[in-house]
Amino acid sequence: MISIRNVTVDYGRGDKSVRAVENISLEIGKGESLALVGPSGCGKTTLLFSVAGLHRPVAGTIEVGDAPVLGPRKEVALILQNAGLLPWKTVLQNANLSLLLHKEFPANSADAVLEDLGLAGAKNRFPSELSEGMKRRVGIARALSTSPSVMLMDEPLASLDTLTKERIQDLFLELWKRHQFSQVLVTHDIEEAAFLGQRIVVLTERPARVKAVIENADMGELAYRGTETFMKKVRQLREALES
Ligand SMILES: Nc1ncnc2c1ncn2[C@@H]1O[C@H](COP(=O)(O)OP(=O)(O)OP(=O)(O)O)[C@@H](O)[C@H]1O
Ligand SMILES: [Mg+2]
Repeated sequence: MISIRNVTVDYGRGDKSVRAVENISLEIGKGESLALVGPSGCGKTTLLFSVAGLHRPVAGTIEVGDAPVLGPRKEVALILQNAGLLPWKTVLQNANLSLLLHKEFPANSADAVLEDLGLAGAKNRFPSELSEGMKRRVGIARALSTSPSVMLMDEPLASLDTLTKERIQDLFLELWKRHQFSQVLVTHDIEEAAFLGQRIVVLTERPARVKAVIENADMGELAYRGTETFMKKVRQLREALES
């Protein structure tokens, strides 16, 4: 579904260029969930944005659903760290932005998705009137509104309190199982990676290369978080990051 082959991404050209990603190859199957972890500044966002069609690699190829990635596409949704809400727009207007961008609004609207995420009562409020958890859910509603087949997430739950974070992780698990999109989650949170990634890819310091790939086939149920297998996976992941 997502095919990343020998991808290298630089910022700038010539002497002053910065290599952010070096020769990464990853295959993410249809409906598969992959978590990407690595040191701060190593190149995670760069790689994710390249899959989203926002950066062009200097070498290698990226394909989504057998077509080369040339720019942003409706079937590829991206959720950002701060949810990317516009403060002067209401919840409903913010949730409709992706549809608007892809010229599907007003024929389609995010109303139903907002309802599904428990935000129907808040749709006329502004972001400043929402809790942090609600803001993140508006970002999720926006991403879901175009019925994507690929969900890309860049630290979507950073700086949330633990309980809110775990509640939205549970929501991510449920949405992923229900919609069966292919998913790539960039996170600093080792537990989040172990809860949501069927496969966890550990990247090196910049330029990002693949350091380790950890299989996590037992994930997929809410109760996984309380198991010994989960704890072991978290320890294994921590060791891979620190080695
Ligand atoms: N526009 C740019 N011009 C030059 N260098 C850049 C640019 N954007 C990012 N970089 C550099 O590329 C490297 C990778 O950046 P990237 O944002 O992908 O890292 P990251 O792994 O997502 O970091 P974090 O965990 O802090 O979010 C960093 O060292 C950064 O300084
Ligand atoms: Mg980043």
